Amino acid sequence: MFDEMWGAIERLGRDGRTGGYLRDAWSSADLELREWFRQEAARRGLDVREDRNGNLWAWWGDPSGRPGVVTGSHLDSVRQGGAFDGPLGIVSAFAALDVLAARGFEPGRPLGIACFTDEEGARFGVPCMGSRLLTGVLDPDRARGLTDDEGDSMAEVLRRAGRDPAVLGRDPETLGHVGVFVELHVEQGRELVHTGDPVGVASAIWPHGRWRFDFHGQANHAGTTRLADRDDPTLPFARTVLHARELAERAGVVATFGKLRVSPGNANAVPGLVSAWLDARGGDEGAVRALVAELTAFSGAEVSTESWTPVVDFDAVLRDRLAAVAGAALARPAAAPALPTGAGHDAGILAAAGVPSAMVFVRNPTGISHSPEEHAEESDCRLGVTALAAVLEDLCRS
Ligand code: GLV
Ligand code: MN
Ligand code: MN
Ligand code: MN
Repeated sequence: MFDEMWGAIERLGRDGRTGGYLRDAWSSADLELREWFRQEAARRGLDVREDRNGNLWAWWGDPSGRPGVVTGSHLDSVRQGGAFDGPLGIVSAFAALDVLAARGFEPGRPLGIACFTDEEGARFGVPCMGSRLLTGVLDPDRARGLTDDEGDSMAEVLRRAGRDPAVLGRDPETLGHVGVFVELHVEQGRELVHTGDPVGVASAIWPHGRWRFDFHGQANHAGTTRLADRDDPTLPFARTVLHARELAERAGVVATFGKLRVSPGNANAVPGLVSAWLDARGGDEGAVRALVAELTAFSGAEVSTESWTPVVDFDAVLRDRLAAVAGAALARPAAAPALPTGAGHDAGILAAAGVPSAMVFVRNPTGISHSPEEHAEESDCRLGVTALAAVLEDLCRS
């Protein structure tokens, strides 16, 4: 079943040239993946709902009486992303429910699978869009007005996908169905390789954010404009990249300019505008904020904040319970190790909104993620399902 599910989605949104995935929110690949989710839920007899923010929920039992135990993740990807970031959590969720059903398990409380919309923010710039809207930390007016690289607003894109953008926003009723949330995810580092464990749990998510830097200059002819007469925005941009690296090294945080737009984009013209997106993260929120403030002043660019996510410390009691159950399910000598992560997740947004939340990580041999080389061994993925099934069974008893 696990292989079958994996086989069914493997080709969706895959770039045959690079092997990377292009699964922007509301793209045709994303719509096909959402349809696949509905079918997997339907053939298990689960009740599928889409909430007002486009998040999908598949329920075994009715959560309107008593909040349920929910697992899941997301199906969208970064551009040229890997196969595992997101989908592993969804495929493992269905597989874990299959394990429980095969055992004749009857959940003592509703058990659900969530598929959050636009976790990566690849299209509109704001990550965890579905969970931010659900929990009310993102203003729906701002969301509707965000534009993609084609200049299409999120409102237009939603309308084209047959959704009503007017209904976006905080959804306490849907959120109230989630008594506890557990997201299984491929590890995006090599900590589990070092500890020698196939599965771990999350202790915390670093504070992180995205900022847009617009460097304005004067577009002009590349051949006839003397160097002294140029107002070339690539120069302050280049200095800013180097300075970001120095500041990050000094502060012990990370800073990345991973997306860049040079306008108008002629090889034979000095550009008029460089837009560059900074992603900065670290264990110390003050240090991240100080870096961004110093870089803003240094750059001379017009800077706007696209998203900010404060530190998330996962509930320690829940984390330790999960670690113990996962360790025992895999017949390990000790509890699964707990690790902090620099990656953002919907589980973090839910935790910040007061939903008891936790994460299970599956070992990634190279630690590479957000790249086609992202990987997890099949044997480890199966252990992840075993651990997740045990965790869900345990949580359903409380
Ligand atoms: C999303 O995966 C992020 O951490 O940026
Ligand atoms: Mn990701
Ligand atoms: Mn993810
Ligand atoms: Mn993420």
